[in-house]
Parts: sequence; C-alpha cells; structure tokens
Amino acid sequence: MCGIVGYIGPREAIEYLITGLRRLEYRGYDSSGVALLTSERHLTIRKSAGRIDRLEAILGGIPAASVGIGHTRWATHGAPSDINAHPHLGGDGEVAVVHNGVIENFQSLKRRLESDGYKFCSATDTEVIAHLVASCLKLQPPVEDMAAVQYRPLVAVVQAALSQLQGTYGLTVIFRDWPEVLIVARLGSPIVLGVGDGENFIASDASPLAGYTDKIVYLADHEMAVLTADSMRVYHRDAGHVDLQIHTLELKAGDMDMGSYDHYMLKEIFEQPESIENAMRGRLDFDAATAKFGGLNLTPQQLRSMRRIVMTACGTSWHAGMVGEYVFESLARMPVEVEYASELRYKNPPLDDHTLIFALTQSGETADTLAALREMKRKGHPVLGICNVVGSTIAQESDGGVYLRAGPEIGVASTKAFSSQCTVLAMLALYFGRLRHLSFSAGARIIHQLQELPDKVRQALQCSDKVKEVAAKYAHCNNFLYLGRQFNFPTALEGALKLKEISYIHAEGYPAAEMKHGPIALVDKHTPSVFLMPHGQTYDKVMSNVEEIKARGGPVIAIVCEGDREVGRLADDMIEIPAVEEFLQPIITVIPLQLLAYYIAVARGCDIDKPRNLAKSVTVE
Ligand code: M6R
Repeated sequence: MCGIVGYIGPREAIEYLITGLRRLEYRGYDSSGVALLTSERHLTIRKSAGRIDRLEAILGGIPAASVGIGHTRWATHGAPSDINAHPHLGGDGEVAVVHNGVIENFQSLKRRLESDGYKFCSATDTEVIAHLVASCLKLQPPVEDMAAVQYRPLVAVVQAALSQLQGTYGLTVIFRDWPEVLIVARLGSPIVLGVGDGENFIASDASPLAGYTDKIVYLADHEMAVLTADSMRVYHRDAGHVDLQIHTLELKAGDMDMGSYDHYMLKEIFEQPESIENAMRGRLDFDAATAKFGGLNLTPQQLRSMRRIVMTACGTSWHAGMVGEYVFESLARMPVEVEYASELRYKNPPLDDHTLIFALTQSGETADTLAALREMKRKGHPVLGICNVVGSTIAQESDGGVYLRAGPEIGVASTKAFSSQCTVLAMLALYFGRLRHLSFSAGARIIHQLQELPDKVRQALQCSDKVKEVAAKYAHCNNFLYLGRQFNFPTALEGALKLKEISYIHAEGYPAAEMKHGPIALVDKHTPSVFLMPHGQTYDKVMSNVEEIKARGGPVIAIVCEGDREVGRLADDMIEIPAVEEFLQPIITVIPLQLLAYYIAVARGCDIDKPRNLAKSVTVE
C-alpha cells in the first residue's frame, strides 16, 4: 500500500512527482503530498486528503525545485486527512520523510521522542521515523564537506534511526541542509530506482519510471541508496557498499494509457484475448505435446518427485489457485491444497519433503503471500512464483516461476490477471500431467483446446451488450448469490468478489448444491442468483438448483453455453458464452461476471478503478 516517488536532477521535480504519483495511485488514494527542496535550502510541503487532483489544485505558487519526494497513501495508522498525509517533517523541519509500510513499535518510540521534546502533529507511524532521523542527526558531529565523504555520515544517521524500527518500510528522506542528496531505504516494502543521465528517480514500482529512463535498479531488503543528480550508491546494512545491478525496463509510458475506454477495468477485461495469448506464447510444445517454461529452475526429475502442491495467494489470486486445484487434480492427478496466504503464514501444516508451493500473485508484492512464501522456503519447500509484475519481490524471492505477461493491471479489481493465472495453471497442469500419466494424444488435445482459448474469450466478450442490459435491470438489488459447481465454483466466488469490491453490493459465492444447506434462506424476489451453468458433468444437477431457487421466487440470471434452450424456461435472464472443455470454463465464465460487476457499478455511479477503502496491492499484514 502507498506509493512513493522521489526525484533529483535538473528538471522541475514536481512534473515527475505528479506523473509518478498518478501511476502509483492504484496503491492507495486517500491522500497525497509532496515535499520540494530548493537549492536555497527551502523545504516546501503541500499535502491534501483525497485524490491527486486535490493535491494538484494546491500546487499553485510553489517555488521551482529540482529535488523532491511524493507519496500517495492508503491509511493504516491515522484516518485519511491533510495532517496524516505524507510527507512528514522531523525535528524543526530538518528532514522530510515519505514511507510505505508499517512501524509496529511506533507507540513506544513516539512516547520516548515526545519526552525528548519532539512535537507530533499526526496520528501516523511515519512521523516517528522523521523525528527519529532528526534526533540521530543531532548526534552527528558537524561535517564540513559532506559530498567529499560521499554522504556516509548521513547514511549512518538514517541507519541509526532505522535500526530502532520494528516493522516494514520503503522510504525516502530529504534533508533541508543537504538539498543535493536523497536517501532511500527498504525493508519489506518495494523500492525501484531509475538511473537517468544527470538525474535519478525513486518509485515504489517501475511504472512511474516508464518514459523517464529504462535503466532500473531494484533495492533489496536492508539496502539503502544515496542519490545525487549524477550518482547512485547502494549500501547493504551488513555488507557495506554493493555494486549496482542495472536492469532494463521494458514497460513503455503508453502501456499505461486508458485508450478509448472509460475505465481501466473495462480496458483490462477487453484485453483478455491478447493477455491470454501472451501467457501462452512460446510455451506450448507441439512436438512433445506438453507445455514448456523457461524459469522453473527445477529439473523434470525434481518436479516429478513432487507428490503434493500447495497453492497460496490472496483475493482473486486465491480464486485462481482454487481453479488450479480442480485443473491439477483432473489433468495432473496430483493432490492440491489451496491456502489463504494470511492463514498459511501462521499455520504449521504437516508437509512432507515432496511438497511444492505455488505463490500466485498479480503484483508480486502482497505482504501475506510474501510472508507465506518465506515461511515455506524456511521449511525447505521449493516455491514457484506465478506473478505478473516483473522484478517484483515475490518474483525475486521465488525459487523459480512463471510470469503471466498480462501487462500492467491498473484497475483495482483484478480481471486479466485472473484469466492469465488460470491459463498458466492449465499449462502447468498439462506439463505436470505429461511428466506423469498423461498420454501424448491427451496432451495434444489439451494443447489444441488451449490454442483456441483466445478466440473463445473474444466470442465471450460479445456478451457485453446483453450483460449491460441485465445489469441495468438488477443494479438496484442489495444482495446477490453466485452459484456454480466444480470448476465453476471458484468462478462463482470471483464473481461475487468483483461485485462486492466495485459496487459495494453484498454478494456470496457458493457451490450451487451447497446453497440448500443455508444460503437458500436468503432467497427472495429481491435477491438474484447468478448461476454458472455451461454444459458439463454437473449441468443437470445445477438445473435442479435453479428449480429450487425459482420455487422460492428468486430471480435467476443464468450463464449458459450458446444455444442452450433448456434453461430458458426457468431463468429470468440468460447470458450466452461459447462452449469450451470443463477445465477451461472458468476463463470463459468469468467474463460475463466481470462485465456484470462493471456495468452494475457504473449504473450505481461507483468509482470503478479506485473503489472505496481498497488499494491495488496490499503490502501490509
Ligand atoms: O497482487 P495480488 O494478486 O497478490 O493481490 C491479491 C489480492 O489483493 C487481489 O487479488 C484483490 O483481491 C483484488 N482487488 C481483487 O480484485
């Protein structure tokens, strides 16, 4: 949560800071702020509750500055307000800090600093860091020429402050009296540095850097960097100076444009034929009737020896993991368990030596998933990361993995990442199946079905107008049920989550047959049930569940295969999708559910891409 940016160089810092904050706004958007430093040692702060537009509106008259830091917030400690917005000042304004993360011992540090005379204005944990740095600065003997000693005394000051913190941080500090330097540090919250020509950049992820530089450096935990306009030095807490590892940024500024769509979410829904194609590109091995992956970093023999898979993730990625469970069990005949990362990290499951872990994540930064990954690695299990964001922490810390290649997903509601995760899991299940019992001809058939998928998704998207009509009819309802069986049970959960998060309507996903064990009590004429019922082994059984809902007066919206005439006699509304094999159905059935959530939220006037209380990547526990 929270996005931070920083700039030092010859341009007007504010231009990069605002562009960067806009690109990071998905990480949190309840307040934002900037601190700018002029060479005359003047620190100007502007901050405001609300979106970046509110911040921009109060930037008039700020002095030209070529050094600055900025922040967009998702509140943890202290309500969203002007005062609690970052940056925070320390001491008498000698330093300003922006921070992403949580300081767990901030109360005790605050008490101590207050008794030392430091005055706190906000309810945040971050202000503690600012005052701590200021207090450590006081103890620093005067240094005549800081540049001559490469700002090492300032590094020592920040390090002394950080050593007192318990918790996580990605942070940047600027100093009123040394306007030619920025210090940045990371423990648990991501930081990416951009190396420019006579200028340097800081960001929480690589997106702000696109269009400014394609040379990037990922800061690791316990590392600090000292940036001037024309130098960048990285230090590790224990190892001292470390060489810069410069990576090339592939992302282009245009990749983050909304194009002609009204919202990122709609754009991302319609990008799915291409994102699924990208997930498969070069990964289908026709000669061997299997899938192939470049970065698993485990030999086929090692993978073959695995007897069990544990998938761990949060939110939508967890739903994709559940799809993976059905797909792996059916294609690879391997036992799979799906664990919420937030549960797995504190659990002590009896896993044997032949257990492989999959960490599924769009952002690659989700704190719970990262913690579960670390815990599983600590116990000696190999972890494969299935991630979208290249270079993200989970991608870096996994033993191997597969990138989704879905491109930037900016809408807070995850859409294309889900279908790409399901696609990658289907390919992995094919690969694991072929290492075991799956025959060549079965493998070849699955490859053929996978190849047809992008076109099937294109056809499924043609239901958009129909879904819009249905959305208009039911947008006033306050409760929804989503029901599906087998492969479509996780999709029911995903459909309910989409509706909840962007339209604030209560929705529950349930296995269709389980509904009669309780949730059926919710059914009345104001509570629509969305049934996922493409053709498959449980079609007739689900039909009986539809009858049960109709018998109790509940409206039914049925997602059915094209040409299905049977459901028509019962359902109030039908949305048709193309038929595919059962193991691929979630990738198709999720499309009308994503669109339904989208159009209902539009009809209710909700903020689609930035729903209330949420943030795109949840980097706190
Ligand atoms: O980046 P991740 O996939 O790890 O994120 C996990 C969840 O926070 C995320 O899927 C969340 O549930 C989405 N807002 C759902 O649309």
